[in-house]
Amino acid sequence: MSKLSTEHLLGIKYIQAEDIQTILATAQNFKEIINRPIKKVPSLREITVANLFFENSTRTRLSFELAEKRLSADVVNFSASGSSVSKGETLTDTVNNILAMKVDMIVMRHPNPGAAVFLARELQKYPKSAHARIVNAGDGTHEHPTQALLDAFSMQQKFGNLKGLNVVIVGDITHSRVALSNIFCLKKMGANVKLCGPATLIPKHIESLGVQVEHDLKKALEWCDVANVLRIQLERQDIKYFPSLREYALQYGVNRQVLDSLSKPITILHPGPINRGVEITGEVADSEHSLILDQVENGVAVRMAVLYLLAGTPNA
Ligand code: CP
Repeated sequence: MSKLSTEHLLGIKYIQAEDIQTILATAQNFKEIINRPIKKVPSLREITVANLFFENSTRTRLSFELAEKRLSADVVNFSASGSSVSKGETLTDTVNNILAMKVDMIVMRHPNPGAAVFLARELQKYPKSAHARIVNAGDGTHEHPTQALLDAFSMQQKFGNLKGLNVVIVGDITHSRVALSNIFCLKKMGANVKLCGPATLIPKHIESLGVQVEHDLKKALEWCDVANVLRIQLERQDIKYFPSLREYALQYGVNRQVLDSLSKPITILHPGPINRGVEITGEVADSEHSLILDQVENGVAVRMAVLYLLAGTPNA
C-alpha cells in the first residue's frame, strides 16, 4: 500500500511533491471505481470518520461523506450549530470527546486560520487521541488542501501534466484559502502561476511564493492555459476592498466577450459556490471550456485517495 510522508493533511504547504503525485495517482484508480455500477470498496471497513463542520459547506461536506461511504467507512457528522460549542466547549474538548467514541479520523472545516494545525498539536498532548488522523477541509483564509488537489487532478486529466502549465488565479486572493493551497500545489508540481485581481485583494509580497501578479484581466487570460476564477468572499471582508460588485464584475468578471477576444480558448475552473454575474457569467460557467462540474466529480475520488492513504500511513 502507498503511504504519504505525513500523518495528517493539514495543508499543501506541509506535504511533498511526491505526496501530491501519490494522491493524484490513487485518485485516478478511485475515479475508475466510482464510475462502475458498484461504486463501493471495502478499503476503510474498519475505520470511523467524523466530519466536523464549524463553517457552512455544500461541496466539501457531501464530497467527504460520499468518499467515506464509498470506502465503506463508518461516518458521523457534526455541525457546530446545535452542538455544545454554543455552551462554551473548546475545540480540543469537543474533538477529544468525539475521539473517545472510537473515531479514527477527523475531517474538519473551521473559520479560524490554523485551526487544523492547532488541533493536530493539541491532540499530541492526549495519548488516547494522538492516533487520530486529521484532514483540513478548509480553515478560514489559510488552506483548503483537498480543493487544490482536486483542482490539480482536474487539470492533469485535461492536460496530462501540470509541469509548465500556465495557470492564472483570478479574484479575491487575500481572503481565499483555495488560492493559497493552489499556489503551493501548482508550484510544487512545476506549473507557472499568475494572480489577477484588484491590488486591494492581492496580498503584498505574495511574489515571494514564486508567483507573478497581473492586474489586467485580459493580459492575464491571454497568458494562461487555465483560469481558476474565485468568488469575492464578502463574508470575510470587514471593510470595502472595491467600489461595488458591479464595478468588480466590469473589470474582473470573466465573460464571453473577454474570452472571445483571446487568441486561443482557455479552460475555466471555479471552486464554487459561484456568484453568477459577478466573478463569472453563467454562460462561461456552463460553457464547454468549463471544468466546474468535473472538479466536483473529481473531488470524491481525490478525497477517497486522501482518506485511504492517510489510513495506511503509520504514526510518525
Ligand atoms: N469549494 C468549496 O469548498 O465549496 P463548499 O464551501 O460548498 O464546501
